[in-house]
Amino acid sequence: MQRKKLMAANWKMYKTPDETRGFFTIFLPLVRDHDRDEIVVCPPYVDLATALESVRGSNIAVGAQNVHWGKEGAFTGEISPTMLLAVGCTHVIIGHSERRQYFGETDDTVNLKLKAVLETSLTPIVCVGEVLEEREAGLTEDVLRRQCTRAFYKISAKKATKLVIAYEPVWAIGTGKTATPQIASEAHRLIRSEAAKTFGQEFADRLRILYGGSVKPENAKALMSEDELDGALVGGASLDPKSFAAIVKY
Ligand code: 13P
Repeated sequence: MQRKKLMAANWKMYKTPDETRGFFTIFLPLVRDHDRDEIVVCPPYVDLATALESVRGSNIAVGAQNVHWGKEGAFTGEISPTMLLAVGCTHVIIGHSERRQYFGETDDTVNLKLKAVLETSLTPIVCVGEVLEEREAGLTEDVLRRQCTRAFYKISAKKATKLVIAYEPVWAIGTGKTATPQIASEAHRLIRSEAAKTFGQEFADRLRILYGGSVKPENAKALMSEDELDGALVGGASLDPKSFAAIVKY
């Protein structure tokens, strides 16, 4: 099945509003006519307004890197799905491994966030992936199954139409060690089969599963040539406009 690829940038905790403007000044002309794939950039919250202003009228969408599951309330430091929509975001990353590792996110909070986001028109990008010890212990399949099952808990196929998954093996993030196209494809097939169990085969056939973990201009083509890989979630290499453009146009 032909699925349009989604090429997403996760800037993590990098760039000020001025640097954001500078990025788009160079990036926009490089991808102006590129309509083969969808492009989304997820900067820090404080850069969202600048990013949205910079991409206005272009083919580029803007997303956030995290979200709370409530509508509003006494939750210091948190941002709700409604707030993201109000400023013009269309996408949001949920359950990135760094959130799980350093900020106490669990499969259950991922599920709460996903449910809340699916009540809105935002497109959720839910991250899953095993750490090195899990892979070495032969637990990759168990971990991916658990992360998917819990993320999808009590969500219907009808509600989940916009769902996007990102497979990000933690050992490949920021390490320069990329999963081989074969390793990534294998994990994607497993995730797709989990989605089929919960949401049905037709849903799973349409589901986009992105790969993330040391995606660079040099390896993007080999990865993106795999049928199972429906795009990329790019960290470090998305901070440089020329390098992210090269990845987008792999
Ligand atoms: P790197 O591309 O820097 O390995 O980061 C991947 C990632 O975590 C994207 O969300």
